[in-house]
Formats: sequence, C-alpha cells, structure tokens
Amino acid sequence: MSGGSYQGASYEGSSSYQEGSFHEPGSPLPAEAEQLWEVNSAWWQECFTEGADPEYTEQIIPLLRELLAGAGPAAVLDIGCGEGQLSRVAAGLAGVRRVVGIDPTRAQLETALQRQPGGAGTAVRYARGAATALPFPPASFDAAFACLVFEHIEGTAEALSEVGRVLRPGGTFLLLLNHPLLQAPGSGWVDDHILGEQYWRIGAYLLEHHGVEEVDKNIWIPFVHRPLSVYVNALVAAGLYLTAMIEPAPPGGFLDRAEEYREASAFPRLLVLRAEKLVRPSARAE
Ligand SMILES: C[S@@+](CC[C@H](N)C(=O)[O-])C[C@H]1O[C@@H](n2cnc3c(N)ncnc32)[C@H](O)[C@@H]1O
Repeated sequence: MSGGSYQGASYEGSSSYQEGSFHEPGSPLPAEAEQLWEVNSAWWQECFTEGADPEYTEQIIPLLRELLAGAGPAAVLDIGCGEGQLSRVAAGLAGVRRVVGIDPTRAQLETALQRQPGGAGTAVRYARGAATALPFPPASFDAAFACLVFEHIEGTAEALSEVGRVLRPGGTFLLLLNHPLLQAPGSGWVDDHILGEQYWRIGAYLLEHHGVEEVDKNIWIPFVHRPLSVYVNALVAAGLYLTAMIEPAPPGGFLDRAEEYREASAFPRLLVLRAEKLVRPSARAE
C-alpha cells in the first residue's frame, strides 16, 4: 500500500480466512477483533504518528487545531486516542487545561505515556476504556473528538450517546472518519482503457459491512462500513446537532506518495462532522 495510509484500502484483496471463518461480514464483529489493535499498534505508531503520515501533518492536525481553537474548550476528551498524537495537539492549545485520552488498547496507552512531553504544559491523562462506556460523569467536557475510530468499532449509537452524556450543554464534538460514502467497500478510481472512461466507483454503500481487512502485509484491522445516515441519525438521537461538515481534498503530501490517487484527487478520503450538544435536548423534540 502506498502513501502510508490505510484509508480506502483495497477490500477486494482481503478475502482471507477472516471473511469466511472469523465472522459474517453482515453481522457485528466479535469482541476479539479489538485485540487486533493490541497486536498491530506498533504498525500504527510507525506509519501514522510522529510526523510519518502527511494526512495527519498536513490535514488532520491543522483541522483539529482550528476546529478546537474555535470552540475554546478548557476540558477536552480524545476518544480512541491511540498513542496520543491528537491529545498532545489539544493539550498545546491556548486555554485548554485538561485533556483526557481514552483507548482500550494497552500498547497504545503505554506509548502515549512514553511520548508525554515534559515541561510546564498541560499533561494529558490517559484512561483505558471503550467509546461505548466512557468512565466520566455527565457534562464533564467542553469538547470531545474521535479521529479514525468509529469506522473500527461496533456500537455507534451507544458511543455517540456517551459523547452526548459527557459533553456539557453547548459543548463541541468532532467526528473524523474515512469518508463513508466515497470510501465504502469496493469504492475506488477506475481507469477503463477499453471504454476510455475514468470514474470513481462507489461500492455497496447502503450495506453495512463488518470486516477485518489486511491493510498492510500481515496487518489485519477491524473495519465497519456504515452509511453516513447512520452516523448523522445517531448524532441527532444523542442530542448532538450538526454545525459543520468538511470534506477536504487529499493533501499534497499524500498525493506525492500515492501517485495513483492524483487523478482522483477531487474525491475526499476524510469526512469531518462538527456537532454541538443541545442545551435543551427536549426543545428539539417539541
Ligand atoms: C486508527 S487508530 C486512531 C488513533 C487516534 N485517534 C489517532 O488519530 O491517532 C484507532 C484507535 O481506536 C482504538 N479503538 C479500538 N476499539 C475502540 C473502542 N471500542 N473504543 C475506543 N477506541 C477504540 C484503537 O485501539 C486505536 O488506538
């Protein structure tokens, strides 16, 4: 795979033992799938953190800075924080006094603690746990975000309901995803030399797909594809109303590494949804 990125990885190429014997693609992944992060966290850390991935350095990190700074939070929660690269970004923002990163993967959290910068800045606190059961009291954060996490987990509705619970009224939530429409399984650039056509093919967008994908040699990661409406409706049900939707073009550093994507650079790989916790959720239902 080129570009050090797994977004939009080839789903056709991954018809290995997992599809047949590990689980049924239409049904939820078994809990053991989460263990794949334990096994593969070194891969993630090497290829996607500490400046290794231009989609983070040129796109995700600047976007997160801008969106969080605009929300002016004092207390921030990073859901599925991994080795903490975005928690550290949040901790460096003016006015931020408390950052908590939560992730179920021990190997990620151990690295996060090692990478904690010293000095007088805001130290990130890390907790081991899952998005579907956040171990925090109601209204304990001004902002929360989850970056490239929800497409790997089961329980979207529960997890977003937890976001709605732990955010204070008026608080901000940022959801960063592999674009669910344009990166649905089976999607990709088609360059048909016989018909002389070029187009972006969309896979079976409406079908939920729960799979384990080989994203790099011998690196298997759980992926769940859901239509965008599943996310938007779960946000609504959680009392989180959408205030922005961002579909950035792939950044230059990514295109430099992934030559084959150049022609398809008008198709976003990332989707960012910004939502705000309703002050009076019941007012919307009236
Ligand atoms: C693609 S990594 C993203 C890490 C981090 N958000 C970042 O952008 O650098 C996905 C992370 O989701 C975590 N994860 C897996 N299952 C989870 C769950 N049920 N709840 C929260 N995080 C989970 C994994 O351990 C992994 O660290």
